[in-house]
Amino acid sequence: MQDWIEKINSSESLEQLEQLRVDILGKKGVLTLEFAKMKTVPNEEKKAFAQNLNTQKASINEALESQKTILMAKALELQLEAERIDVTKFTPNLNHAATHPVADTMAQITSYFQNLNFSVEEGPLVEDDFHNFEALNLPKYHPARDMQDTFYCNDGAVLRTHTSPVQIRTMMSQKPPIRMIAPGTVFRKDFDITHTPMFHQIEGLVIEKEGVVSFANLKFVMEEFLTHMFGDVEVRFRPSFFPFTEPSAEVDISCIFCKDESTGKSSGCRVCSHTGWLEVLGCGIVDENVFKAVGYEKVSGYAFGLGIERFAMLIHKIGDLRSLFESDIRLLGQFR
Ligand code: DAH
Repeated sequence: MQDWIEKINSSESLEQLEQLRVDILGKKGVLTLEFAKMKTVPNEEKKAFAQNLNTQKASINEALESQKTILMAKALELQLEAERIDVTKFTPNLNHAATHPVADTMAQITSYFQNLNFSVEEGPLVEDDFHNFEALNLPKYHPARDMQDTFYCNDGAVLRTHTSPVQIRTMMSQKPPIRMIAPGTVFRKDFDITHTPMFHQIEGLVIEKEGVVSFANLKFVMEEFLTHMFGDVEVRFRPSFFPFTEPSAEVDISCIFCKDESTGKSSGCRVCSHTGWLEVLGCGIVDENVFKAVGYEKVSGYAFGLGIERFAMLIHKIGDLRSLFESDIRLLGQFR
């Protein structure tokens, strides 16, 4: 009997346990056969004989039951282990969203200047004539207003044609020194392979005491910024005209599309109109008339402005500006 209990306690599977139950208590089980001997036991011994067998049966059943509980727990553990799901095995499907290249480029440029301690300023998309033109030294009837294909709203308001009016708003609401950028949406009546009626710019403005800011500072900051964005490129300043800066410059980088890696020279291609140079931004020393318009005296400053789509197109080698606004998942999916 003790033998059987030990066998039960050391059984290792439910199948083995079931076999033991059959061997002991089944139709031909050892204990069942013992019970069958009842017939041959003399009457006066029957009671004791039966009691003994029943006690044995109870002990066996108890052992079977408790071993069954142990083995079931063990089986469950094995099953859980076998069916365990390793959630890290699945690559999450990130097909749903990606940062738009324009938003991404805007964020990159913004954080570059934030790291140089520039604040980020905002202004309204619907501007008045004073902030969009007048205060930027573009008086009414000044021919330079022709440069801007303006959307006019009722009562003289306009959709801002550039982010430069945020310069004016910041100068009028803060005191120098100022070190700001203004990323944002702008509007012009224009639509072709390199123009869309809505696009984005970043404006920059630095104002210090008189005599502190020079063109050399501006040149250094622009060169550092452009090599940060485009890598190892040459930077060229060309004299130009903007009403709000004097002197003004347009800035080119050596063409990144036809650059010969061994010589570092750009030989000219379709993208750079065979010049070897790509125009990327405008800048200059803030014009005295702008300071007059905002009531500043004895200050010096520089400003710059750039088109974010142009940067995004150059960085990602996108040919047609309009494709940035078609929401074509096949294009956008490539910027994940
Ligand atoms: N506002 C100019 C434009 O929309 C860009 C610009 C050029 C801004 C020169 C500036 C600057 O601050 O100095 O084309």
